[in-house]
Amino acid sequence: MKIGILVGMENTFPPALIEKINSMNAGVTAEYIKIGGVKMGEATEYKVIFDRISHEIPFYRSFLKNAVLNGTIVVNNPFWWSADEKFFGYSLATKLGLAVPKTILLPQKDYIKGVTDASLRNLEFPLDWQGIVDHVGMPAILKPHDGGGWRDVYKVDSLEELWRDYDQTGTLAMTLQEFIDFTDYVRCYCVGRKEVLIMPYDPKNRRYLPQEALAHYSPEMIDRITRDTILINEALGYDLNTVEFAIKDGVPYAIDFTNPAPDADIWSVTEPYHNWIIEKMANLLVDYAKNGQPTSHYHRWYKWLNPEAASPIASRAGELAQELAAGVEQMAQKASDVLSEVIDQITEPIKPKRAPRKPAEKETKAAPKAAKSTKATKTTKK
Ligand SMILES: Nc1ncnc2c1ncn2[C@@H]1O[C@H](COP(=O)(O)OP(=O)(O)O)[C@@H](O)[C@H]1O
Ligand SMILES: [Mg+2]
Repeated sequence: MKIGILVGMENTFPPALIEKINSMNAGVTAEYIKIGGVKMGEATEYKVIFDRISHEIPFYRSFLKNAVLNGTIVVNNPFWWSADEKFFGYSLATKLGLAVPKTILLPQKDYIKGVTDASLRNLEFPLDWQGIVDHVGMPAILKPHDGGGWRDVYKVDSLEELWRDYDQTGTLAMTLQEFIDFTDYVRCYCVGRKEVLIMPYDPKNRRYLPQEALAHYSPEMIDRITRDTILINEALGYDLNTVEFAIKDGVPYAIDFTNPAPDADIWSVTEPYHNWIIEKMANLLVDYAKNGQPTSHYHRWYKWLNPEAASPIASRAGELAQELAAGVEQMAQKASDVLSEVIDQITEPIKPKRAPRKPAEKETKAAPKAAKSTKATKTTKK
């Protein structure tokens, strides 16, 4: 059984992980994948693929989706990774009860070539900038709705600064977020939606701090951070992610939790954290290789490719079609009765001498209509 690793330029974490898995003698081996032209519908030789780079290489992302279709477990799920972005995450987290800084999604400053005013008729113009700023307050953080690596993140202190920086953001969709004047900041690894490592972090100097920096955290704070980290990852479905919290007045605000390929380099995260993530990821990947459920099971299309899973759906679809057809028949009958009565009422005074219709006649006239619509519904549903 094999685990394939897909990597970019990082050169400490992947080799150490491969070495660790291979040293476990668990009947599972790990190696770097080699990919050329990919045949549609063709399975890979890997039970599990660990992806560290497809966010930068669309060819890999597409390859991984095909691998999922063919039964491979991919960490992280390439379909959700493609769909996810920060703003959705903030909305979800706030509904899950996490503390999230107030955030507003902003229309883009610029649009791709070919998009003109005519294409943008749904956009409010001018924007209610004052209302937006009043909602999040000042200072605020302006950052991409789908970002990473601290790129295009601005701190603004006034409406004028916001406009100045917003004007630099081009075609990026940006969010404006309440600034949390934090006293502490943590970045938490979450593996398998179970294992959490809270790493104190100093964003000003961009460095990880040793565990001792957590000494003044209350047990309640540690519990809350751990619980919030697991909850958001359960909801998003990531097997590996980091969640960042800015802590202010005893409240951990969730700042960034769309990191499906988080930094694990020994020189930046430091050795203890690097060792932790190697150990946990090796265990997770080996466990997935032996006992994991294929990523395809999360998707609707899986049921249509798998006869046992598809049959309950097909029979339910059949039942629904029958219920619908019966409903349509009843409605058509009622409609035709009402119609006949209306026709009778209209035509009686005009043709007073016309013989009254027999009830049977009404039914015969209405019947073909009802039958026709029923038939049509049945055909469409099949
Ligand atoms: N709402 C905020 N309040 C205070 N600082 C913030 C806020 N949002 C981001 N930051 C700072 O900016 C950094 C980068 O923002 P983040 O959302 O983590 O983006 P990225 O995905 O680029 O890492 C954070 O590590 C934090 O130091
Ligand atoms: Mg971040």
